[in-house]
Amino acid sequence: MKRSRILSMMALASATALTLAACGGGDAEGDGATAGGGENAAADGKTLRLALNQTEEHPSFIALDNWGNSLEEATDGRWSIEVYPNETLGAQQEALQLVSDGSVDLAIVSGTQLENLNEDFRVFNLPKVFDDVEHQMKVIHDDAIVGDLYSSLEESNSLTVLGGFTQGARSVYTTFGPVESPEDFAGKKLRVQESDLHIAMAEALGASATPMAFGEVYTALQSGVLDAGENNEVSYWTQKHYEVAPDWSYTNHLVGLDYLIVNSDLLEGMSEEDKAIFLDTWTAAHEEHTELWTTATQDAIEQATAGGATFHEIDSAAFDEALSGLAAEFITSDTQQALYDAARNAAE
Ligand code: GCU
Repeated sequence: MKRSRILSMMALASATALTLAACGGGDAEGDGATAGGGENAAADGKTLRLALNQTEEHPSFIALDNWGNSLEEATDGRWSIEVYPNETLGAQQEALQLVSDGSVDLAIVSGTQLENLNEDFRVFNLPKVFDDVEHQMKVIHDDAIVGDLYSSLEESNSLTVLGGFTQGARSVYTTFGPVESPEDFAGKKLRVQESDLHIAMAEALGASATPMAFGEVYTALQSGVLDAGENNEVSYWTQKHYEVAPDWSYTNHLVGLDYLIVNSDLLEGMSEEDKAIFLDTWTAAHEEHTELWTTATQDAIEQATAGGATFHEIDSAAFDEALSGLAAEFITSDTQQALYDAARNAAE
């Protein structure tokens, strides 16, 4: 990473930490358990701050908010969660940094972000690695498959991964009419998440790749900086991208994945009893999220259609063919191959 980028991330992280401290968020219980590395351990409990980049209507916000309530109830109020939606604590790259340094306790980040810290996470960001949501959830909550991966950032970054939420199947949406093959994307700028793999994916889809944070996409589509985006229907609707890119084409190129990350020192500092409750209630939360997902997707399609979007069913064979070389290109180690094989073996 370039030095200037690291410095600007650090500046942003400390600015956000100052804002949090100023609004009282830095030490919710007044117990001295403020931001910063190992000091984050608050064995007796506190209000945990969770960074999210989705709106309050999104199933991720709903499931996380409910998680906070169950945790509070089950620990007699010792632990609770305040979910900060809409990138209030920063976009995902910054949120990752803030959880790592302990200024924020928890965040939901896309798999593409973790790929930048450990390339093994790439495997689950590949097109076609998961057949569907059910397959994905089975793999990413199977400790035998993901145990080492999820603890791999503890020493280096003080981050523990606890599992995740599906992003559902992702397709493309455009400002210039529907697409049916990579040729239709010639000369068009397609926004992707900040990941080398997804840059290569956009190029394979025939477009010119523009990596960008989620919260910037609407304005970029509106102003013509972008010609297209790729996401699930739920974010297409909740972020209102359909207003500025009304044609959705079902490429279904990827079942995307969000992870829940927690500051490792915080987790370690919990009593065994509270940690068990924390993990059990989190399991209930991701199960609820999976249940909410199907209905949320249907609702999003209806709402976006009512708002002027058109959803085009297409023959995605030309796109599938174009993406088929990415696994061989991006799986470069035995560990990655083993993760890929384990994921594929778990498919029905
Ligand atoms: C989905 C996903 C987010 C991600 C976003 C994106 O909405 O849930 O975590 O940030 O896609 O495309 O950036």
